[in-house]
Amino acid sequence: MLCVEKMIKFWDPVRQYQKYKTELDDVWFSVMNRGDLILREDVEKFEKNLAEFVGTKYAVGLSSGTDAIYLSLKALGVKGSVALPSYTFKATCGAVINAGCKPVIYDLDRIIYEGVSAFIPVHIAGEVYNFGKYDYGPVPIIEDACQALGAIKNPTSDVQCWSFYPAKILGAAGDAGAITTNREDVYEYIKEARNHFKMDNKDFGGNHRMDNLQAALLNVKFKYLPHFLAKRKEIADKYFSGLSRIKEITLPNFQEGRVWQDWILRTEKRDELYEYLKENNVETQKNEYPFSPEYPKLPLAAKYEAETLRLPIQPEHADQEIDFVIRKIKDFFQK
Ligand SMILES: Cc1ncc(COP(=O)(O)O)c(C=O)c1O
Repeated sequence: MLCVEKMIKFWDPVRQYQKYKTELDDVWFSVMNRGDLILREDVEKFEKNLAEFVGTKYAVGLSSGTDAIYLSLKALGVKGSVALPSYTFKATCGAVINAGCKPVIYDLDRIIYEGVSAFIPVHIAGEVYNFGKYDYGPVPIIEDACQALGAIKNPTSDVQCWSFYPAKILGAAGDAGAITTNREDVYEYIKEARNHFKMDNKDFGGNHRMDNLQAALLNVKFKYLPHFLAKRKEIADKYFSGLSRIKEITLPNFQEGRVWQDWILRTEKRDELYEYLKENNVETQKNEYPFSPEYPKLPLAAKYEAETLRLPIQPEHADQEIDFVIRKIKDFFQK
């Protein structure tokens, strides 16, 4: 009988820190002793690492994934309406509104691309959204890849947006984000806009810089990115084989080449399952993010989100813990 005494956290930053503590502490002290705090060599190294990993000419380190989307719209001069899915995290839509554009939101059964000034496909939970099959016309494409590091390689879109929020596949010790692109004009714009267009009198920009310290920590973790991706896949496989026979559960899409930022099951008994797991020392998360009264979630997306449950999938979770999560989900449905 599997027994787990402590709560299995959905995600525990301390575990990852403890595992790589020596190296992370070393770079922390190195940065502090050098006094390299803002836009120094560690940010440049991070940008090189990221561009190489994604397969683009350029990368720019930023303060968050939200800022990456916002600055991409600015860089591309997008002023009108922007198409995006209802099934996404709030930030995709918020960045569009904050950039002075109008979101044109589509539901799960369709895609809107006519008459918009830009299109933001979103790769949720690490599953690649194949926008290439749509004849979208000559509008710029900004990929929200904040949940899909490792799944998007050699992209053909105008710009790709990344988040290094601590719980992401590659997580900072605070907020961080980036864009990657093959477009020199987009690269030049965002590189200067993130720092107020400081040396230029043409515009204001803002403070959207990636902290040098975050970049240094991320550079350490970059070495372990293949391991993080492989370990997440291993856990995903365990969930597939452990849970595939439960009729009341819809499994996530097993797509070739995808990554596992999240393993999201769906069930009509989502809320009861969530509570049952909590009572049994398993922390999970709902993937449900209401927008606003002016831009409510659309019906299919709202129903879909109300059935979602994200299971623990951090690389540092022990096999025994994942087995316990599976056991408890089985127990719930056999009750
Ligand atoms: C799909 C999506 N877009 C945008 C963001 C925003 O990223 P950040 O939290 O770094 O601003 C996130 C972060 O969770 C996300 O999941």
